[in-house]
Amino acid sequence: MAAITLKRTAQKMPAIGFGLWKVTKSSCADTVYNAIKSGYRLLDGAGDYGNEKEAGEGLNRAIKDGLVKREEIFVTSKLWNTFHAHDHVKALARKQLDLWGIDYFDLFLVHFPIALKYVEPGHRYPPEWFGDDGKVYLQNTPFSETWGAMEELVDEGLVKNIGVSNTQGVLLLDILRYARYEPAVNQVELHPYLTQEPLIKLCKTLGIAITAYSSLGPQSYVELGGDKGAKNLLEHNVVTSIAQKNSKSTAQVLLRWAVQQGLAVIPKSNNHHRLVANLQVSDFTLPETDMKALSALNINLRLNDPSDMDPRLAIFA
Ligand SMILES: NC(=O)c1ccc[n+]([C@@H]2O[C@H](COP(=O)([O-])OP(=O)(O)OC[C@H]3O[C@@H](n4cnc5c(N)ncnc54)[C@H](OP(=O)(O)O)[C@@H]3O)[C@@H](O)[C@H]2O)c1
Repeated sequence: MAAITLKRTAQKMPAIGFGLWKVTKSSCADTVYNAIKSGYRLLDGAGDYGNEKEAGEGLNRAIKDGLVKREEIFVTSKLWNTFHAHDHVKALARKQLDLWGIDYFDLFLVHFPIALKYVEPGHRYPPEWFGDDGKVYLQNTPFSETWGAMEELVDEGLVKNIGVSNTQGVLLLDILRYARYEPAVNQVELHPYLTQEPLIKLCKTLGIAITAYSSLGPQSYVELGGDKGAKNLLEHNVVTSIAQKNSKSTAQVLLRWAVQQGLAVIPKSNNHHRLVANLQVSDFTLPETDMKALSALNINLRLNDPSDMDPRLAIFA
């Protein structure tokens, strides 16, 4: 499988992984086990997804059954917004590793560059965006404090690589001014409706790998009522005609479009057939005209924008 070599450690990050957001908790262990059995070698989790224990059960069962060794699976997790203070970063990384039942993450990302008021995990976990009264509470933790604690996780051997998510150029450049360990990865929303060429160019220049999320576009947000009325990319006539021409599904075309730009993808599916098909995007190449036609669908549509909840969270403004 195609892989991206991460700059500091030279570790190979598989270009196609399995995304765990909204993977049903009750079937998550089996889904992860079957994803590994089907050939996935990267799992993309997060504290916020509420299924880390179950994902870990699936992973550990696959290891116990001899399907893979731990070192053959690249496990990504993410630090939630309420844990940005130095001591909370460390406590949560340990808690998350305990939930997974593993002793290191291959990659640990700061989920959003947004610090929210601490929520005691015993009170509510995952804490999500809102306080008990349904309001958003910010916390004055500078990103440099959070990043320093992330670096200490590397020093302590709890994580191999560290990175960011939902992060734009201005913050990336600032992190580089003080980082002992530069961010290895920036995981961002990226699909033909949000092509982000300037960010791709910056990250490639800096040697920061990009993982594209929500590669299939609005589809993931339909069940949340958050597709913003956008036309389904999986049924868009430009995408369907390219899919027919290349004898592939529209999902495979959208994933290939990202991988062919040198980006990693992490499609999610609760359906076994779709999960298997999403992995099969390495055996064809889209002609340049098709790549350009897909990129021309860009309308700068950002589906995952925290400022839709509260204007103080406008990290993409
Ligand atoms: N860092 C962040 O802030 C962030 C934000 C969002 C997502 N992510 C990560 O990125 C991963 C992927 O993003 P995502 O889950 O938003 O979206 P996605 O993988 O682009 O799309 C998932 C949606 O498409 C459907 N689907 C999957 N494969 C399909 C196929 N072959 N044909 C038709 N429909 C298909 C799924 O339904 P079924 O399950 O029914 O197949 C689901 O509704 C997440 O799971 C998560 O790990 C990270």
